[in-house]
Amino acid sequence: MSTDKASKAEGRVLLPSTIIPSRYDIKLTPDLTAFTFQGEVSIQLDTSADLNCKEITMHAKELCFISASFTADGKTVEAEQINDNKKATTVTFVFAETVPSSSTIVMNISYIGFLNNQMAGFYRSSYTDIHGNKKIMASTQFESLDARRAFPCWDEPARKAVFGVTLVVPAELDAMTNMPEKCCKSLEGGKLKEITYLDSPKMSSYLLAFCVGEFDYVQAQTDHGVLVKVFTPPGKSEAGMFALECALKSLDAYDDFFGIPYPLPKLDMVAIPEFAAGAMENWGLVTYREVDLLIDPKKASNSQKQRVCTVVTHELAHQWFGNLVTMAWWDDLWLNEGFASWAENWAADQIYPEWTMWDQFTTGHLSYAMKLDSLKSSHPIQVPIRHAEEVEEVFDGISYCKGGSVVRMICAVLGMKAFQTGLGNYMKKFAYGNTETIDLWTAWEETSGMPINEMMSSWTEQMGFPLLKVIGETWEADKVTLELEQSWFLSDGSTPEEEKKWCIPILTVTDDGKQKDMIFMREKTAKIEIPLTSVTSWVKLNAGQEVPMRVLPTETMIERLSEGIRNKTLPVSDRAALVTDGYALVKSGHMPPEDLIKLLSSYINEDAYNVWQGLADVLSGLNTITQDDEGMNSNFKVFARKLVIQLQSVVGWEKRETDGHLTVLLRSIMTGLLAKFCANDESVVQEAKTRFTKFQEDAGDMQNLPSDMRSSVFRIILKNGGEKEWNDVKSYFYTASDQAERKFVLGTLGATNDDKLKNQTLEWAVSGEVKLQDFFYPMGSVVSSKAGAEVAWKFYQANFEKIKTMIGKGNPSLMDACIVNCAGGFCTSEKADEIEAFFKANPLPSNGRKIAQCVEGMRTNSKFFDKLKASELSNDSFWKSL
Ligand code: BES
Ligand code: ZN
Repeated sequence: MSTDKASKAEGRVLLPSTIIPSRYDIKLTPDLTAFTFQGEVSIQLDTSADLNCKEITMHAKELCFISASFTADGKTVEAEQINDNKKATTVTFVFAETVPSSSTIVMNISYIGFLNNQMAGFYRSSYTDIHGNKKIMASTQFESLDARRAFPCWDEPARKAVFGVTLVVPAELDAMTNMPEKCCKSLEGGKLKEITYLDSPKMSSYLLAFCVGEFDYVQAQTDHGVLVKVFTPPGKSEAGMFALECALKSLDAYDDFFGIPYPLPKLDMVAIPEFAAGAMENWGLVTYREVDLLIDPKKASNSQKQRVCTVVTHELAHQWFGNLVTMAWWDDLWLNEGFASWAENWAADQIYPEWTMWDQFTTGHLSYAMKLDSLKSSHPIQVPIRHAEEVEEVFDGISYCKGGSVVRMICAVLGMKAFQTGLGNYMKKFAYGNTETIDLWTAWEETSGMPINEMMSSWTEQMGFPLLKVIGETWEADKVTLELEQSWFLSDGSTPEEEKKWCIPILTVTDDGKQKDMIFMREKTAKIEIPLTSVTSWVKLNAGQEVPMRVLPTETMIERLSEGIRNKTLPVSDRAALVTDGYALVKSGHMPPEDLIKLLSSYINEDAYNVWQGLADVLSGLNTITQDDEGMNSNFKVFARKLVIQLQSVVGWEKRETDGHLTVLLRSIMTGLLAKFCANDESVVQEAKTRFTKFQEDAGDMQNLPSDMRSSVFRIILKNGGEKEWNDVKSYFYTASDQAERKFVLGTLGATNDDKLKNQTLEWAVSGEVKLQDFFYPMGSVVSSKAGAEVAWKFYQANFEKIKTMIGKGNPSLMDACIVNCAGGFCTSEKADEIEAFFKANPLPSNGRKIAQCVEGMRTNSKFFDKLKASELSNDSFWKSL
């Protein structure tokens, strides 16, 4: 199935390969008051034998060129013309003489650039310093295509080169790049300093970075001798300690895991006040959103700690996977992001085994991957990218979550040892080079002798994943024989237009707790025999949820499994999966809705955090779907509340000294569900009010209102209050001590039931008071009810031009988030039509896939609702019989 390299490369828009850059010397002088920078770059180029022209073309965007020349054999030739091609984001330098072929030449270019405010390229952020003064700092975000906004270059991942950087900055500021300082000289009587840094290793342009500003930092050395610093806003260095610890431990862990020591002398991690994504893996200078790096040791919640740890471990995994070995072209982006999504969990699990990251993976990454990949608007993990700008859309749940899921599947198939050996070999073979997906398969095939390429191409080259259906069963005293059938699983249950097959590793577990021998299922059907220890034994397919697929068991299997749920002999991730698979199967019409509700009843004694993650998703999903049928919705709510109140009786509101990490997270789920299902219950309202009043007196009292509960309590207060409560919550935004605390306000303020206040929340989001990086959060908070969805969508349409202008040329992921939050709250096909029509009239080319996913999800949910209405769930008697 795998396509050969030449045909894959066909149609790509690349710069000609007749000129090869080997080294850049870049000198930048940013002006933080004029928002510009002066650039001088000198590029060493090797020209090929067949180069025969007077032009050199490279990438450049929003740069004003002053002069350009090339020097060959001691002779300098000035450019006669400098032609910008705005659409292609290139510049062409035209010379009076032919550029010499088969030689090494040096190009010198001088230019002016802009420190923009769009969080892309070399850009500025504003922040308030400890004295309350507004200040400006500058930093970079080059991935995927914005190195060209800072210097003219061959901005393609396979054009690796050495970078020598010099920065000229005000003497009182810190300035960092990927490598440590080599030398520093004072300029203009001590007003400026010129810092030259050591040469970088050979690397891709998107990994270069600079930061200029005022910082504090904490530092330490890893056991293996790498100096790690975490840069924080002035006065906040303590908040860097937690990330520093995570970095120290994970760097050494990766050294050992990959068998190659971290290749740079230092690692800096910097919190940037304005940042479009979560973090960026620039080699040796990783940049982060503040909330994804800084942890207030007294206030931070457990989920914040987990987030910071996994963002750090994700970016540090890239220092090898991505930076040392890089995908040759963007269509293998998943190699970067899928692998890092696997590794972030691996490393976090090494550092904090009690967090049970792999269980969390199944209800997090894996669930999200299957949600997206069961849509017809999905795409294969490996996507052809012709024009580089198409890559922006591929930074999605397929590359990250399905990518991470298939890596986890291979690890389960190979076993950790062969998995690791293969990776180590791959790293060594391709260090400082570029690869394609097949190179990784080959490495694993060579260490394991297994047909990895054949197996994996079915998972990465075709979109979608299988439904594994049990179509026959023969139960005996000591064994069961199951007949299995695979087909393409579509979320709305429609018959697939084409037949697809996957090479599926079949893993099973029974109540003796042991996984059974694995077989590969390549054909449409297969028969397996599983030994049993007793006549009532349960059997679970897809043991440990190692494979991204849905499983439809028989009624008998479900009956037996229900016992495993009740007595908790079924492992945690399998317990969670039965209900999340069940939900998807009911939605697609493969399972009767009544069976799902009965299955849910088996979880009445559930107390595992991870299982509750799955349960919470399913309960919230059903609540949203049934919202248009008052009768069914209220019956369902009564049912859901029983489960939630049972959980509350186990976990309680009060934080205990002895609580482990997962208990704290479980309490957070519980308060979230109370806010959803019991927000008007007298006792719940009272509890929230008491805690909120105390919180207003002392926001630092973390026993009264721990951070993990703040969002839920704010929501309950907002839902039961009016303007006063709305203002109370909002005012915390202005007094909170850090971004993480402010985010609790951003994410909840719109939960009020008052449409006027919902609208005010939206106005506030775009007023300029909320940072561009955060303005989509309040939008999401408004859509907590059916009425809210309407308010947000109206607002979005009315403010479309304004929102578009705000985001400008910044990261299209900001618009994606906005669309999901403002248009994603519906579940009727009429609304899907309306939204589709709106974007047809107002096209957003970079967000096309997100819009398609949104609309398809809505249509699917509308059919799901019809299925529920046609079932026993419409009858009161069904609910009474439970
Ligand atoms: N390489 C990405 C950053 C990125 C994202 C660049 C989108 C260009 C476009 C980085 O490694 C990343 O994946 N960051 C994640 C956080 C991570 C923990 C999932 C992010 O920014 O959300
Ligand atoms: Zn990443």
